[in-house]
Amino acid sequence: MGWVATPELVAATSNAGAFGFLALATSGPEEALEMIEKTLTLTNQPFGINFHMFQPGADQIVAAVIKHKIKAVSYSRSPIAEYIQEFKKHGVICIPTVGALKHALKAEQLGADALVIQGSEGGGHTGSTPTTLLLSSVLQQVNIPVIAAGGFRDGAGLAAALAWGADGIAMGTRFMMTQESPVPSQTKESYLAAGIDDIKITKKFDGLPHRLIFNNYIEKIDSSNPLTLLWISVRSAIKYKQLTQSSYKDIIKAFFAMLKGDDLTISQSVMAANSPAIIQKAMVEGFPDEGAMPSGQIAGLISNLPPCDELVKEIMNDFNQSLTRLEGVRR
Ligand SMILES: Cc1cc2nc3c(=O)[nH]c(=O)nc-3n(C[C@H](O)[C@H](O)[C@H](O)COP(=O)(O)O)c2cc1C
Repeated sequence: MGWVATPELVAATSNAGAFGFLALATSGPEEALEMIEKTLTLTNQPFGINFHMFQPGADQIVAAVIKHKIKAVSYSRSPIAEYIQEFKKHGVICIPTVGALKHALKAEQLGADALVIQGSEGGGHTGSTPTTLLLSSVLQQVNIPVIAAGGFRDGAGLAAALAWGADGIAMGTRFMMTQESPVPSQTKESYLAAGIDDIKITKKFDGLPHRLIFNNYIEKIDSSNPLTLLWISVRSAIKYKQLTQSSYKDIIKAFFAMLKGDDLTISQSVMAANSPAIIQKAMVEGFPDEGAMPSGQIAGLISNLPPCDELVKEIMNDFNQSLTRLEGVRR
């Protein structure tokens, strides 16, 4: 989770007995390397990293993963076969996240060792197929382990996913809503207050289907016509240019890259170019009403912010209770 899965949260997750993935897709190469080294100082348990194979400095990240013997890598859009081969040669486990059956098949063909399938309930960029249906359809067609994601928070969900045929579950939103998560408390309060129906998908924010908490800012973007959207986009681009101290050249460069690469409209491209700064406004700076909050719908069912070790213990207790309940059903 970009800006959320920091060394502290990842180490706390792995130290608790789960498996954390460090978010590097939102970092430059130098910061990414520092984050890997920092995590290594905070845990001796295995953890993985998440990055985009097309991001600037990907070569350096791949080299650092191999050098530090990082256990696993996670990636999604535009995987690069050469990097995957390099990882496999060095025993790094490749676990891409996919949101559609066709992407699962492609990922297996490219050499994935396991898959995380993220159903549409999941937070951040997401697909349109619900977790249960995506899981069933992928399980029928692939021969590698499949981890279910999208809508999980507890041991009952883990038992259900295993019963469905999955090999495990992955959770984003649940771990974002913990003590060790770096998200500012005002923003965590907005997650606690959100109901299931407040967490919806829009394509107007950055051009890709993105599941977010619909605050007034996102409502306005989602209901805007193309002209108003263009106006909001330009205004936020100027505002965020000042905030991030980036140059007009940087913003225009990002804008043209999006326009060309992702088949977006002009206003979506302007918005996509400054969406990282809008997300940071809520997730890093602590202004939930003025920023974007990526979230799984499961936030609507989460009402506490436990430390990671308590959370993992509770999930496992709940899992064992679920199994006992199921034993009772069988008798
Ligand atoms: C705040 C937030 C940021 C995320 N950022 C990323 C990311 O940078 N890379 C990625 O592969 N997935 C990202 N995701 C998706 C999660 O890795 C995970 O697949 C998803 O949260 C699972 O669904 P859940 O939220 O219902 O647990 C993000 C999710 C959230 C909530």
